[in-house]
Amino acid sequence: MQINQPTIINSENLRPTHVKVNLTYLCNNLKTIRERVTPSKVMVVLKANAYGHGMGVVARHLAPHADYIGVAVLEEGILLREMGINIPILVLGGIWEEQIPEFIKHDLTLTASSVERLLQIDQAAAFLKKKAIVHLKIDTGMERIGVHYYSAHTLQEAALGCKHVDVEGIYSHFANSDAADLTHARLQLARFNEVLSFYEKHAIPAPRLRHMANSGAILQLPEANFDMVRPGILLYGVYPSDEAQRSVQVTPALSWSSKVVYFKETKPKHPVSYGSTWQSDVPTRLVTIPVGYGDGYFRAMSNKAKVIIRGVKLPQVGRICMDQMVVNLGIDGTGYNGDEVVLIGKQGDERITAEDLARWAGTIPYEILTNINTRVPRIYTTLERSNV
Ligand SMILES: Cc1ncc(COP(=O)(O)O)c(C=O)c1O
Repeated sequence: MQINQPTIINSENLRPTHVKVNLTYLCNNLKTIRERVTPSKVMVVLKANAYGHGMGVVARHLAPHADYIGVAVLEEGILLREMGINIPILVLGGIWEEQIPEFIKHDLTLTASSVERLLQIDQAAAFLKKKAIVHLKIDTGMERIGVHYYSAHTLQEAALGCKHVDVEGIYSHFANSDAADLTHARLQLARFNEVLSFYEKHAIPAPRLRHMANSGAILQLPEANFDMVRPGILLYGVYPSDEAQRSVQVTPALSWSSKVVYFKETKPKHPVSYGSTWQSDVPTRLVTIPVGYGDGYFRAMSNKAKVIIRGVKLPQVGRICMDQMVVNLGIDGTGYNGDEVVLIGKQGDERITAEDLARWAGTIPYEILTNINTRVPRIYTTLERSNV
C-alpha cells in the first residue's frame, strides 16, 4: 500500500524522507526462522502494511518462500488476492457474519472464533456451493477472540457436523511468549495441548495445521512449534522484547532517513518549537529535518530522540511538530542543507534501532514500525549493503 506521489513532481524533487526496505534481509530472516522451526511450516504475518514495510512488495517477495500468509482483516486479504498472491491466506482477526461470503469468494481462510460463527460459515458455504477453509480459534489465556480452552470441545464438536467447511487448522495465541518468565506461556501451551487431545481421545484426525507460536515462542518455546509457526516482528529483523532470548539471528530490514532542510545559528535563551520546551544556554547550531509525527515520528519522543548526521548521534530538541523537527548540532557541530539524517539505521559507526525509538516514545518497536505513515515512500533494495 504505497501512497501515490503527484505526477507533476519529478521524483528527484520529492521530499527526501523515505524508508528503505532490504528485501534480501527479509528473505534471509525467513530462511533463518525456517531453519530453526523445521519441519514446521511458516506463516508470514503481513498485517498492518507488513509491520510498516509495505504489504504489497513484501508479499510478492516472500510468498514464494512461505507456506501461508497471515493478515488481520478481510481487506488486507482481498488486496493480496487482487495482486495475484495465490498461496493460502488466513485472516487472524474476528469477523462479522456479513463478511463471510467475501472470504469464501476470495479463497481466504476464516478464523472461526465461536460456534455461532462456524455455523454461519457452514451455511454461507452451502449457499455458495463452495467449501470454506476454516481454522478454529482457541483462547488459552489471552481473553481476546476465541473459544475458551475449557469449552473448546463445543467448537470442535460443532466442526465435526459442518459439511461445507474444511477445518484445516486449529490455533491459539500467546500473551507472554516474549517474557523472561515463561510460566504463563507454558500454562497456555499446556491448555492448548489438552484441547488438542480431544482428537486422540475420540480417535478423530486432528486438523492438519495446529499452530500457536509467534516470534517470542519461536525464540523461546520450541515445543510450541506444532505444524506451523506465525512470525511477525522477527521476520522484519526485530526482537519482540528486550527479555526474549536471541536464539535466532535476524537483521533489521528497514531503515528510515531524511535530509537536513535548514541550518541556523541560534542565540542563548531562544526556545525551540511549540511550547518552548527546550532552549540552549550557549550559542548553538540547529538544523531542521522535514519529518514529524504526521510521518509517524512520535511527538512523545520530543527532547529524547537522537538522529545520526555525518556519523554523529545528535539530540532532537524542542517539540516534534507534525512535519518538522529540530536537531542540535552543538556549538561547533557540522551539518548542512542536504546532509543525510538517519532516523532508524546505520551511518558510520553509529546505529539507531526501532527499539531505541520505542524506548524514547515509551512504547514497543511494533508500534514504531506500524505507524510509519504511508506518506513516507518505501524504497526497496535487494543489495546486501544497506544502511540498516
Ligand atoms: C494471531 C497472531 N499471530 C501471530 C502474530 C505475530 O506476532 P509477532 O509479531 O509477535 O511474531 C500476531 C501479531 O500480533 C497475531 O495477532
